[in-house]
Amino acid sequence: MRKKIILSFILFAFTFYCCAQKRSLVEPEQWLKKTNEVIHYQLTKAAEIYKPGFNPRSVNSDGTVRLAPLPDWTAGFFPGSLWYGYELSGDKKLEEQAQRFTLSLDSARYITNTHDLGFLLFCSYGNAYRITRDKQYLPVLADGAKNLFARFNPKVGVIRSWDFGDWHYPVIIDNMINLEYLYWAAKAFNQPRYTDAASTHAMTTLKNHFRKDYSSYHLVDYDPTTGKVLKKMTHQGLSDESSWARGQAWGLYGYTMCYQNTKNPKFIEQAEHIASFIMNNPHMPKDKIPAWDFDVHNALETDLPAIKDASAAAVMASALLELSTQVKDGQKYFDYAASILKMLSSDEYLAKPGENHFFILKHSVGAFLYDSEIDTPLDYADYYYLEAIKRYMEIKHVNLKKG
Ligand code: GLY
Repeated sequence: MRKKIILSFILFAFTFYCCAQKRSLVEPEQWLKKTNEVIHYQLTKAAEIYKPGFNPRSVNSDGTVRLAPLPDWTAGFFPGSLWYGYELSGDKKLEEQAQRFTLSLDSARYITNTHDLGFLLFCSYGNAYRITRDKQYLPVLADGAKNLFARFNPKVGVIRSWDFGDWHYPVIIDNMINLEYLYWAAKAFNQPRYTDAASTHAMTTLKNHFRKDYSSYHLVDYDPTTGKVLKKMTHQGLSDESSWARGQAWGLYGYTMCYQNTKNPKFIEQAEHIASFIMNNPHMPKDKIPAWDFDVHNALETDLPAIKDASAAAVMASALLELSTQVKDGQKYFDYAASILKMLSSDEYLAKPGENHFFILKHSVGAFLYDSEIDTPLDYADYYYLEAIKRYMEIKHVNLKKG
């Protein structure tokens, strides 16, 4: 009898929980519905017309599409976008396409000459495993993490970014994005030394990459034998002392994820300082989509145009949404990210179905001073926009999936 009562109680509690869960889902706002229709249409078409391994990266100035075969650092973003597209829509066809495009990157597991393994593998294979739990994705993830860790020099306390160029031991702020992959791999493959390397990299970067106002240099060159800082400079920004917009976004994202993985208060403090630099920046335009460099507004004498970079805005939105869940007074971060997302979802930035070579967002900047990818769609703008849309919907408990 007692058993029966307990069982009935458990059944009642479970039914109540399920109903409460269902009831708490809210209907999507109009802009979000439209956005998700565009996302689904563009991804479905793109997966049909592009070939796995030759993933769409951006649009050249002559109107042709720039593709991203390995070892292009952006090759993982299109498969990653397909995974998010699948999560947002529940459409099994997108899942099949996501798998097809992901598996075409298998040989990225052998890349050893760049730090970009987080971008390449965690966005593609990482999402594939997170969503499906299919063990076939693990060996590639294990090899990639091993190769990334091998680029960590304990003497310098950072992971080396690049092997090309005249620098001695270059580390760019973008490298902060790789740490989430290492933290995950440390647990997945029982490698605590990956955690130590990731946290040491974050602490060294905190010390050397940031200015007093919490803006960051793009590149710090180290002496590989002593660990001494040799030079602080830019590679993609306006000047050595300027604040390259996407670099600020990478830093914000990186420290937010470091905190999420370690709960080290130093990391969340840093993330909030960077957020404050971005959100209170006098050069942030009213629509909250920054120009490619915050200081381009100061460069009137060079007459450089303050072209907007939707990719920086998308990374900022995704990072701020995550940050909003990690702190007590996160509403201000959520609200700021929501404004960015609504702007990116307006006709100004969001493609019309069938246009924009099936990219989702317009108006990003790759590397302005190299005359490369100016005012173009970019695969990573789409990826972080989709991630941000997913985070927004999760935080707001929006129910979108069909059925
Ligand atoms: N990681 C290179 C870039 O953000 O352009």
